[in-house]
Amino acid sequence: MKTIEIKLKINNEDKILRVKINERLVDALRAAGYKGIKKGCYEGSCGACTVLVNGRPMNSCMIPAASADGFEITTIEGLGESDNLHPLQESILETGGVQCGYCTPGFLISSYALLKSNPDPNMDEIKRATDGNLCRCTGYVKKLEAVERAAKKMRGDK
Ligand code: FES
Ligand code: FES
Repeated sequence: MKTIEIKLKINNEDKILRVKINERLVDALRAAGYKGIKKGCYEGSCGACTVLVNGRPMNSCMIPAASADGFEITTIEGLGESDNLHPLQESILETGGVQCGYCTPGFLISSYALLKSNPDPNMDEIKRATDGNLCRCTGYVKKLEAVERAAKKMRGDK
């Protein structure tokens, strides 16, 4: 299988990946060690593979890796470390919005994109921003509460 080299920025670090011409971005990123990205439906309908691509949340299973040359990617690994969690990661643990956790990285990436552009979203806006991130076990109430809670923390509200 023919491979090509792509240069991209992942979580603010310059990276060079060698990818197969028919490989999808989700697989190339996971092979490069970004295992926080999950692979669910593999057809663009569950949101488990969501990453930020040039600042916008996108399903990485629908992007040919070879087309990602020059892209800036943010994965869940770019949000926080286990000893220094992002407020979104902290809040979803506090509200109990994680069960199996498979949908969590994609959900948090979509939420992160929302809070970057809108630091004080209402519940409808939170729902709309995350409606492509399906969860089959926890449901949505605690997750949506977590986004509200994180937004408050990030704004410094009590
Ligand atoms: S695995 Fe990409 S949208 Fe489901
Ligand atoms: S927590 Fe299991 S799919 Fe959402």
